Amino acid sequence: MANSSVDLDGLGALRRTHACGDVRADAVGEEVVLCGWVHSSRDHGGVIFVDLRDRTGIVQVVFKPDTSPDAHGKGELLRSEFVVAVRGRVDRRSDETVNAAMPTGEIEVMVDELRLLNAATPPPFAIEEEAGAEESVRLRHRLHDLRRPPLQSALAIRHRLYQSVRAILTEGGFLEIETPTLGKATPEGARDYLVPSRLQPGEFYALPQSPQIMKQLLMVAGFDRYFQIARCFRDEDLRADRQPEFTQIDLEMSFVGVDEVLEVLEELLVRSFREAAGVELPRPFPRLCYDEAMARYGSDKPDTRIQLELVELTEVFRESEFRAFRGAVESGGIVKCLPIHDAKELSRGQIDKLESFVRKELGAKGLGWVRVTDDGGWQSPIAKFLSDDERARISEATSARPGSVLFFQADAADRANAILTRLRTDLGERLGRVDGREWAPLFLVDFPLFVIEDGQFTYAHQPFVAPLDEDLPKLESDPLAVRGTHYDVILNGVELGSGSLRNHRSDVQRRILEVLGYSKEEAEDRFGFLLNALDAGAPPHGGFAFGYDRMVMLLVGADSLRDVVAFPKTQRGQDLLMGAPSRVEPGQLKELGLRPARKDEPRRDS
Ligand code: AMO
Ligand code: AMP
Repeated sequence: MANSSVDLDGLGALRRTHACGDVRADAVGEEVVLCGWVHSSRDHGGVIFVDLRDRTGIVQVVFKPDTSPDAHGKGELLRSEFVVAVRGRVDRRSDETVNAAMPTGEIEVMVDELRLLNAATPPPFAIEEEAGAEESVRLRHRLHDLRRPPLQSALAIRHRLYQSVRAILTEGGFLEIETPTLGKATPEGARDYLVPSRLQPGEFYALPQSPQIMKQLLMVAGFDRYFQIARCFRDEDLRADRQPEFTQIDLEMSFVGVDEVLEVLEELLVRSFREAAGVELPRPFPRLCYDEAMARYGSDKPDTRIQLELVELTEVFRESEFRAFRGAVESGGIVKCLPIHDAKELSRGQIDKLESFVRKELGAKGLGWVRVTDDGGWQSPIAKFLSDDERARISEATSARPGSVLFFQADAADRANAILTRLRTDLGERLGRVDGREWAPLFLVDFPLFVIEDGQFTYAHQPFVAPLDEDLPKLESDPLAVRGTHYDVILNGVELGSGSLRNHRSDVQRRILEVLGYSKEEAEDRFGFLLNALDAGAPPHGGFAFGYDRMVMLLVGADSLRDVVAFPKTQRGQDLLMGAPSRVEPGQLKELGLRPARKDEPRRDS
C-alpha cells in the first residue's frame, strides 16, 4: 500500500490560490496556496527543494527548518509523486539562482505549511519531458505517462480543437446531433463490432463504423446541415494511424455540390488549426486528380513536399526481351520507375539493403536498379537484359544523367505503386529531397467509383457515393471508367478525411448496388431503410468526415494515434491499463444466449 506508512492530512480550509505554472514575479511577497505532485525533491544540507507540478507547470517550493520546523519535518517524508498542498510566501530568487529555462524560474515559494494529501507508489519511470520507457510499459502505466508534458499538451490541444470546431460549424449553421451507438451494420469496409441483444436473443447490434447512413437520414429529415464529433468503431488491422475506436468530425450538408463542401472543409481546417495550435495552413488547397496522383506519386495520399516523382515505363517493356518485366506487363501489370538524380551517396550496399527490404517487407518480386556512372555508363543488374533502344527510351523518360539512380518495379499496378511510393517517401526523407513547406494540404478528387477486388466490382470508398453526372451513362457498360464525387483531404501525406456527394435518387443507388453484386432482395434487406428514405423526398446532399485523432496527431507532430488518445489500444486491440478485453461471468453470457469460445478452439477470423 502506498500510503500506509505516512500520516495523511486533509485539505482542510486551505484553498488553492494559484496553479503551479502560474506563480510569477508579480506575486512576490504574496501568500499563496499551491496543490500538486512532487516532481522531484532535493535535500541541500537541511534545506529541502521540491519541484511541485500540476498540469500548468512546475514551481520550486522550499522547506527551511527555521521558517517552519513542522513543515520542514514533514517535507523530509516527501517522495516522487506524493500529492501535497503547501501554503507559503513567494520570494524572488537571488540573481545567481534564477532559472531562465523555467517559466516560474524567477521565484520560489517559502513553505509555512505542508499538507500531505496522499502518498504514491514509486513511479515506473520518471515523469519527464521525453518518454524514455518502452511503449508497452508506458501503456500499462498510462496514468504516469499521462502526467508527462507530451500527453498533457496533446490532450490540451485536442480539447481546444473540439471547441474551435464546434464554434466554427455552429457559426456556419450546422446543428450538432447525436446518432445511436447501438445500430445496424453499415458497410465502411472494416469488420463490425457486434453487441448481442439480451431482449432479442440471437440478434445483434453493430457499433457504427461511422454515422454514414444516419447522417443521410438526417438530411432527408430536413436538418440541412449536421455535424457530430462522433465515436466510430472498426474491427480492423491496427497500425500507427488506426485505432479500433476513433473519433470523426462528421458532417453532412443538403443542396450542395462538391465545390461548396470543399470550401467548408478548407475553412474548417484552416481556422481550427489556427485557433487550436497557431498553425497557418497555406490556402487555397490545391486539387489533385486521382489518376494524376497515382501516376506521379503512386499513392492517393501523396506527401507533395517530397520532390521525387515516378515515371511510367510500361510501354517500353511491352515487347521487351527482359522476361521478368515483359511478363508483368503481359499479365496486366505495369512497369514504373523512381528516378533519383544526383544520388551518388546511395551506395551499392544501401541499394542491396533496399532490395532485401522491399522483398521481405513489401512482397516485391525484386528491385531493378540502374546507377548512371560519371562516364554515362550503366551499372545495373538489369542492363544486360535491355536493348539499346530500351535504354535510350528509359533515359529519355527519366532524364537520367551521371549520378542518377533509377529504381524499377514490374508488378500488378497496386503493388508496384505501393512499393515505389514507400521508396519515394523513405529515400526522399533520407536524402533530403523535400521542399521547405511545413504543411502541404491538398484535395484529392475524381476517385474511381469502383475498383476490382478478387475479380469482382467493389466500391472504392463506400456504396453511397454519387457518380459524376457525366459518367452516369457508363454505370453498367463500363463501371471502372465511372468517376465518383468522392474527395479526400490529404495533409503531409496523411489521409485526414473523406467524403462525397451521395446518391439521393433511389434509382441510381439501386443501379450501383446492382453493379456491386447485390441482388434486389439483398439490396432491400441490407439497405431497404435507406432506399425507402431516399424515396421519401431526399434532397441532394453530401458531406465529409475528418479523422479527429489524425488531425491532432499532425498538430502535435506525433507519429502514432496512441500519443493523442487518452486511453488508446495496442496493436492487438488491448487496453493494457484496464486489461480489456477480458473474460466475463458465465452468467452474463448465458443471459445473452452466448457460449464462450474455448481457448483451444480454432479462431475463425480469416
Ligand atoms: P472513412 O472511412 O474514409 O469515411 O473515414 C474518414 C476518416 O476517418 C479516419 N479513420 C480512422 N482514424 C483512426 N483509426 C481508424 N481505424 C480510422 N478509420 C478511419 C481517417 C479517415 O479519412 N462515412 C465516411 C465519410 C463520409 O463519406 O462522409 C467515412 O467514414 O482519417
Ligand atoms: P532476375 O532475372 O530475377 O535475376 O532479376 C534481375 C534483376 O531484376 C534483379 O535485380 C531483380 O531484383 C530485378 N527484378 C526481377 N523481377 C523484378 C520485378 N518484377 N520488378 C522489379 N525488379 C525485378
